Amino acid sequence: MRLIDYNTEQYRDYARGRALSAGQLRVWLDAFAAVLPEKRPLAGVDVGSGTGRFTPALADAFGPVTGVEPAERMRAVAEAGARHPHVRYRAGSAEDLPLPDDSADYALMFLSWHHVTDKPTAARELARVVRPGGRLLLRANFRDHHPRPWWLAHFPGGYEVDAAIFEPLHEVIATFTGAGVGWRVAHFGTVTEPSVGTRAEMLERLRLRTFSFFGRLSAEEADAGLRSIERLVAEDPDAPSAEFTETLLTFELSSQE
Ligand SMILES: C[S@@+](CC[C@H](N)C(=O)[O-])C[C@H]1O[C@@H](n2cnc3c(N)ncnc32)[C@H](O)[C@@H]1O
Repeated sequence: MRLIDYNTEQYRDYARGRALSAGQLRVWLDAFAAVLPEKRPLAGVDVGSGTGRFTPALADAFGPVTGVEPAERMRAVAEAGARHPHVRYRAGSAEDLPLPDDSADYALMFLSWHHVTDKPTAARELARVVRPGGRLLLRANFRDHHPRPWWLAHFPGGYEVDAAIFEPLHEVIATFTGAGVGWRVAHFGTVTEPSVGTRAEMLERLRLRTFSFFGRLSAEEADAGLRSIERLVAEDPDAPSAEFTETLLTFELSSQE
């Protein structure tokens, strides 16, 4: 797949194109709380933290968080945001985390797993940093359980093009359980994020092209899809942007291996 270089693409527009409302953030934090240990504080690592969409909210909800992000320009956007006493950002990647052994109660990877190039190394590295009994929350898409946002159908082959970016669920599970470091599946569920607002508002976000999907389309295909959505929006500018369901896969690190 063509890799997105977040140092040259998306970093200017990501925070705007993928902004979360308070209601959307709440739904995700509730979903994370449901699969995390109950004790507080929890030490967290937000792996592939990007512009810090989740990092401060994780600190408020659960305890101190380190955001680890390889793209300097994405990290710079996160660091330019409001300072949080329990958030720090560091350079690094899932394959090479700048953290000591057994230092985190959980790791979150929110739409960053499909960018990881050396997945077996990342599975071992995450197990090094997460404590035995700790959790990995993988908010990833899977080719065979792919979400169906309404707008994908407007792009030529949209659903198939987007789904092809991601591995099937069993491959992701095999990477972790086959790493020989103690990962086991603790939970697999779905989350329905509240709507971003109207379809017109979603169109404005799509124009910023802050989805990996756009890296798979030609300029003509992207323009054709956006024009098709413009026609739909013109018919009914206030129509709501329909909700859709997304997957959350949680692993637990056993204390055995
Ligand atoms: C779609 S963005 C998601 C950012 C953030 N988690 C969020 O939800 O807003 C994907 C992020 O993964 C980062 N990334 C790319 N390769 C990575 C790797 N090997 N390990 C960790 N993160 C990576 C990118 O730089 C980018 O910031």
